[in-house]
Amino acid sequence: MNTNMNRRSFLKTTATAALAMPAITRAADANKPALLGGAPVHTGGWPKWPEWRESWEGDVLKVLRSGRWCRSGGGGQVPEFEEAWAKLLGAKRALGTASGTTALITSLYVMGVDAGDEVICSPYTFMATYNAILINKALPVFADTDPTTLTMDPASIESRITDRTRAIVPVHIYGMPCDMDPINAIAKKHNLAVVEDSCQGWLAEYKGRKCGTLGDLGCFSFQNSKHIPSGEGGAVTGMSDDLLDRCHAFHNCGRATGNFKGSGCFSRGTNYRMQHFQAVILLQQFEKLVKETEIRRANADYLSANLKQIPGIAPARLPENSRAVWHLYPLRYDAAQFNGLSKAKFMQALSAEGVPNSSGYSEQYNEGMLDEAINSSGYKRLWDANRLNAYRESFKELKGNKQVCETTVVISQNMLLAERSNMDQIIEAIRKIHVHSSELANAQRRASGNGI
Ligand SMILES: Cc1ncc(COP(=O)(O)O)c(C=O)c1O
Repeated sequence: MNTNMNRRSFLKTTATAALAMPAITRAADANKPALLGGAPVHTGGWPKWPEWRESWEGDVLKVLRSGRWCRSGGGGQVPEFEEAWAKLLGAKRALGTASGTTALITSLYVMGVDAGDEVICSPYTFMATYNAILINKALPVFADTDPTTLTMDPASIESRITDRTRAIVPVHIYGMPCDMDPINAIAKKHNLAVVEDSCQGWLAEYKGRKCGTLGDLGCFSFQNSKHIPSGEGGAVTGMSDDLLDRCHAFHNCGRATGNFKGSGCFSRGTNYRMQHFQAVILLQQFEKLVKETEIRRANADYLSANLKQIPGIAPARLPENSRAVWHLYPLRYDAAQFNGLSKAKFMQALSAEGVPNSSGYSEQYNEGMLDEAINSSGYKRLWDANRLNAYRESFKELKGNKQVCETTVVISQNMLLAERSNMDQIIEAIRKIHVHSSELANAQRRASGNGI
């Protein structure tokens, strides 16, 4: 598998990858790694994603026939969805948006992030987190990643605060809650806003409360790969009417909303509205989301309990009293415990066993996008050269994140919806690779000696 494959293409492939594998002869040796010609542990497919139900069609058709597709004018499915989403999360209010990215841009804007500000965020995330900050012409300053949790290390935040810092963006990556108490305490101490990127955190919980309700505002994505998908879609959640009125105004071309009158009739804003088509599809899936979340949790717990027994495999640690929802299920791989078998070869061996997997996020700050931003005329006007140079250099300090990027292997959420026997096969495949790691590593050495 291409280790640089992005998450969305990976999700598309996982459901069919196993089926696409070459036919296996029954005579193949089950004890030999599939990569070395043995029989794969898993030969069936994996649950497909996304899924739809025929029973949804009537309500979608009703929206189509109503001719009322846009939320302007009030009523309809978008406000219905907002009310239901807020209730499900225990939030005071929710606002439907066009996407998770637009939910983040809206939230940062409303929390006062402006041109020339700095925002401390998690580097281990989908690129949209960085982009939402950059679109507001602010600088994403990266806290380090805790290699045991894969989320923002609260201990690395304070040293990165400057007089320009306005907000912190913790990311509940893969649906694993960040340790929010210390993050909120630091924000309070320094008078910073907290915008949770909960775009992968639907129903994740931290100390009895749902992610997306723990900071000032929370942001969700309902893009096609997500646990509750509507093609594209997003939401902002929060506990403050004032903030949600502002978000509503901003996402609705700046029209005055509720108690927020802005500059009279209009204030600055844009069109990030959700459509009724998106909302009606989302409304169908609440029960499914709740039920499937429990299945993913049970299977992930089972995987973690068993995989941690294999030397060199470390499942992620969750903060105390929290529950993840596992958009991807990550494990950290220690090649030293596998006789030096590289992560890339381990991943290939796992794929060959019928267990599709991917590499998770890379060190994206080294991949050009931030250079493009800080070399732009706008950023050069907003920060002096010393600050931008120091900023570029600071990426080297992200040692925890580098370790996470180099050692993490992930499997996708749809696989966690499979039968328990399939989880046993995942465990068995990894155990088999561990047992045969010496042969696999030797084959790897021979191949690289041959220049392959
Ligand atoms: C962590 C994270 N943040 C932000 C986003 C952006 O959401 P969207 O794709 O709906 O714009 C995503 C979605 O992939 C995400 O996973």
